[in-house]
Amino acid sequence: ISIKTERKKMRPSVKNDLFLKACRGEATSRPPIWIMRQAGRYMPEYQALRKNTTFLNLCKTPDLAASATLLPVDMLGIDVAIIFSDILVPVEAMGLELIFSEKKGPSFPSPVRTRKDVEALCTPDPLEKTGFVAQAIKESNRRIDGRIPLIGFSGSPFTLATYMVEGEISKDFSRVKKMMFQDPDTLHLLLERATKTVIDYLKMQVDAGIHAYQLFDTWAGSLNPVHYREFALPYTKKIVEALSREGVPSLLYVNGSCALLPDMIQAGTDVISVDWRVSLPMVRNIIPEGKGIQGNLDPVSLLGTSEALKKEVHRILAEMKGRKGYIFNLGHGILPETSVSMAQYLVKLVQES
Ligand code: CP3
Repeated sequence: ISIKTERKKMRPSVKNDLFLKACRGEATSRPPIWIMRQAGRYMPEYQALRKNTTFLNLCKTPDLAASATLLPVDMLGIDVAIIFSDILVPVEAMGLELIFSEKKGPSFPSPVRTRKDVEALCTPDPLEKTGFVAQAIKESNRRIDGRIPLIGFSGSPFTLATYMVEGEISKDFSRVKKMMFQDPDTLHLLLERATKTVIDYLKMQVDAGIHAYQLFDTWAGSLNPVHYREFALPYTKKIVEALSREGVPSLLYVNGSCALLPDMIQAGTDVISVDWRVSLPMVRNIIPEGKGIQGNLDPVSLLGTSEALKKEVHRILAEMKGRKGYIFNLGHGILPETSVSMAQYLVKLVQES
């Protein structure tokens, strides 16, 4: 117990604690709001930061990463900041060359396809290989100056494995799922390696000062529940257990999670984050009281009229009314074609509710 309180004391306390209360399943005067991918290409100020450098260099330069982290804090008056980075940063640290291209997004030129490839991966020392993330967290907290909490994050092992095996963005995940059917032991070995890396990586983020962490198991929604229980859930659970002593709340996001919700609960995170395809009244019934729920505005609703957006936001707020531990967010990342004024309007709608 003493270790836990010790850790909690180290966390810088924050003025706006709506998000942290919601993570603990407590009642709040209104739902807190943050937006997945809230610092990104839809913002001219982000484009300006990005103009003279690559995306990876932004992530690896703590001063620039902190500037990106602060953009939605200053421009939107959001209730929570999320550290500017990418889920693939620790994968590069495992020894896989990573390239981000304008057109094709992230890719690994030498993807993991065989047992030998898995065995060649290393388990990185997080500070040595990804210490820039810890520095960016410290610098972001310095600039946030106790106004709001800062979320850290990691990809979950299955989602990291999809990128490592596919080598690029994929629609049907046929390569990683082929490995699942052809050579499950090799996939399990890869998932174990990724789990160890993620645990060390998140512990480093906790030590640097994050107030909560979100696990992105974005592509686990491509699995049926039986495979989810074998290839995704146990590893997510292991991470949550390893971090449970740190006294930092956890959130789990899966895209297309509708059929997986009962299993996702077993991962043990404080909050379950859902996409827009699920009905929130149904989610309210499935997720037990005391656990937080995050979501689930369709990102495309920010591309329509402000009237239509207002209608959607009010519907969601009505559906979640009276539910403790509700956090407003989108069902997936904000789209690059979104206008900043619509994002600002969204934040205002929720904060004035
Ligand atoms: O939420 C935030 O504001 C924090 C930053 C953040 C980024 N990526 C920045 C980013 C977070 C939390 C992520 C997570 C991430 N990255 C996920 C999981 C969540 C999700 O959205 O599905 C995944 C699958 C990735 C991998 C990734 N990174 C892809 C597929 C792409 C290309 C497509 C795209 O949207 O750009 C990226 C690039 C990326 N990550 C950008 C940003 C701001 C754009 C980079 C640029 O400036 O060109």
